[in-house]
Amino acid sequence: MKKVCLSLATLLMLFSCQKEENTIENQNTTTAKRSCASQEVLERQLQENPGLAAKMAQIEDFTENARLANKMVNGHIEIPVVVNVLYRTAAENISLTQIQSQIDVLNKDFNALNTDFNQVPALFSGVKANVGISFVLDQVIRKATTKSSWGTRDAIKKTKQGGLDPTSPTTKLNLWVGTIGGGILGYAQFPGGAAATDGVVIDPKYFGVTSNSGSSYPYNLGRTATHEVGHWLNLRHIWGDATCGNDLVADTPSHNAANYGAPTYPHYSTCTGTPVEMTMNYMDYTDDRAMYMFSLGQKARIDAIFLSGGPRFSFAQP
Ligand code: ARG
Ligand code: ZN
Ligand code: CA
Repeated sequence: MKKVCLSLATLLMLFSCQKEENTIENQNTTTAKRSCASQEVLERQLQENPGLAAKMAQIEDFTENARLANKMVNGHIEIPVVVNVLYRTAAENISLTQIQSQIDVLNKDFNALNTDFNQVPALFSGVKANVGISFVLDQVIRKATTKSSWGTRDAIKKTKQGGLDPTSPTTKLNLWVGTIGGGILGYAQFPGGAAATDGVVIDPKYFGVTSNSGSSYPYNLGRTATHEVGHWLNLRHIWGDATCGNDLVADTPSHNAANYGAPTYPHYSTCTGTPVEMTMNYMDYTDDRAMYMFSLGQKARIDAIFLSGGPRFSFAQP
């Protein structure tokens, strides 16, 4: 029975290929006989009209942007991730399992696949977003060091200073895992900075999903990277880094200041209009278990950086 099906399928394939060939042949003969003058007319117009070339280039730019915007709506931007591990102790030399757990969290949080996404209050359900960006572990680079902490002056990103230079930073997201010190969980570089220092640094204790009872709690669910990658994708803190400051996103309410811990809902702002604060947004400072959404306005800011002329256009290429 299997054989019959196979040969039948083969016959059908042969038949359809032949048919296709015939069509192609016919097309070729047709196009060879007739001709279309559009290209000649265009060439003449380009010669006669000095502004036309620039105008057509603009149309191409627009077309490319529309293609990319469409691609993003369908959720197909995929970012290769290079993880640079700088370790002195065995604990700092985190396992591949630990690394993959962080990639998994990024994929969940940026694709509305996090299990707590349904905890977003009804008040914000109209603006909660599926950002639609995926992350793929590209490579892990490990290097032993004698440094016990790296600080925030980017030494960890420089081979000459004992760290590791980024790998292909215009097409790959570089993450550095190393002890930062000073109670800092992580830090990111915003779009627009130097390629040589582009990426995100995370302390190994807060990289990936770690035990609920360990010393990483309450930053044990990998959301430090979600927050920092948010910055890397041009998102500001939700309180705008000032009292009732502006995060440049219209659908996030004004927050007085950063929120910590796991605030009880609703938490009211004292800013103009006393809105309910979106404390569950990844760009606040709450505990990992208390942050579980980006907003549509934040997604729009992210999408813009991948368009032609945008700072992360090089990541949007097929
Ligand atoms: N840059 C912030 C810090 O180092 C990260 C805050 C992340 N918050 C979190 N729940 N993981 O303090
Ligand atoms: Zn931050
Ligand atoms: Ca806002």
